[in-house]
Amino acid sequence: MFGNLETLAPDPILGVTAAFRRDPDPTKVDLGVGVYRDEYGNTPVPAAVREAERALLAEQRTKVYVGPAGNLEFNERIVALALGPLAGQLRERTATIQTVGGCGALRMGAELLHAAAPDSVVHVSDPTWANHEPLLGNSGIALERYPYYEPATRSVAFDRMLGHIDRLPAGAVVLLHACCHNPTGVDLGPEQWRAVADVLERRNLVPFVDLAYQGFGDDLEADVAGLRLLAARLPTLLLAISCSKNFGLYRERAGAFAIVAENAATARAIATHQARTGRRMYSMPPDHGAAIAARVLVDPALRQAWEAELAAMVARMKQLRTLLAGRLAARRPDLDFSWLTRQRGMFSLLGLAPAAITALCGEEHVYMPPDGRINLAGVSDANVDRVADSITRVIGRR
Ligand SMILES: Cc1ncc(COP(=O)(O)O)c(C=O)c1O
Repeated sequence: MFGNLETLAPDPILGVTAAFRRDPDPTKVDLGVGVYRDEYGNTPVPAAVREAERALLAEQRTKVYVGPAGNLEFNERIVALALGPLAGQLRERTATIQTVGGCGALRMGAELLHAAAPDSVVHVSDPTWANHEPLLGNSGIALERYPYYEPATRSVAFDRMLGHIDRLPAGAVVLLHACCHNPTGVDLGPEQWRAVADVLERRNLVPFVDLAYQGFGDDLEADVAGLRLLAARLPTLLLAISCSKNFGLYRERAGAFAIVAENAATARAIATHQARTGRRMYSMPPDHGAAIAARVLVDPALRQAWEAELAAMVARMKQLRTLLAGRLAARRPDLDFSWLTRQRGMFSLLGLAPAAITALCGEEHVYMPPDGRINLAGVSDANVDRVADSITRVIGRR
């Protein structure tokens, strides 16, 4: 039955991890992986998350199903974390379902879009996270791209982006990264969010916000300022939330998908469709990760501890950006590396030619996907000089 299936090429990002693992070089560096790393190369579970997990395990008396929408307290708390005081104001208009991580949330959104408006088109940034197109497109929804990144200035190609969005037909869906744009690290500023909100409102466009890094850019509030602006102004908004990075819950697959609808009746109808969509794909979401995140958010002491740990992770990433930019500038004073410090989150694009990226992986044993996206959290005090030397050696290769 399956004999006609050909073996597929590895996923571009997961393939980098596999190549890194195979490499026997003791000085190899992995800048490809999409997870936070501490100074020792570990991806820790925040202490507050472990504490919440211990408490839950001690109390848990049953493993019965959680229900199609998942953990209702989690759904409420995680949307409140994203939308702040607006969450209360919009409660009647919001339908939320717990999902299998942020990917599950994105897919749930695409499935609902496809069911409700099969002809709608989702416009994603160019470039965007490598899994957006497969994940959304596999639901059957059509995808197009809008200009986002200006390689020459290593910033948002804002005029082109806005001009493009301003020409989209009413009802088009625009996927926006709330913060820490993956893979470029360049985010919209407050004025730019306002201008985007104006155009979305004026042209009856629908924002679909991917919130995978709340708290990873600047802080838990600043990172969602743009999202909140859109939620306050637009009649309809789709929101995919991931708890993988900020709670360190990667493998527990905790996330949520919410729609803020035009009115309460539509939100109630959407909730039934969310439940049915989940039921048809996997029936019920897993409990553990969402229950942990809810516990952290509900318990004031755990929440405070978690926020402090998250702030420390962000401070480390910013410090690594400064560190690497400084070491590169010391080697190539003729080149500007300050863009590294202006970008946000874990990722930046090196902006080197394909031959240079191939040489980094093959000759220098410094791994990253073919687009040259580096994860700053893979840099450390111990390897920064080695990384800077390697990058310097391949700059200019074509
Ligand atoms: C931009 C973006 N969206 C969504 C996700 C999905 O995260 P999750 O691991 O929770 O499915 C990621 C994960 O890397 C991401 O980078």
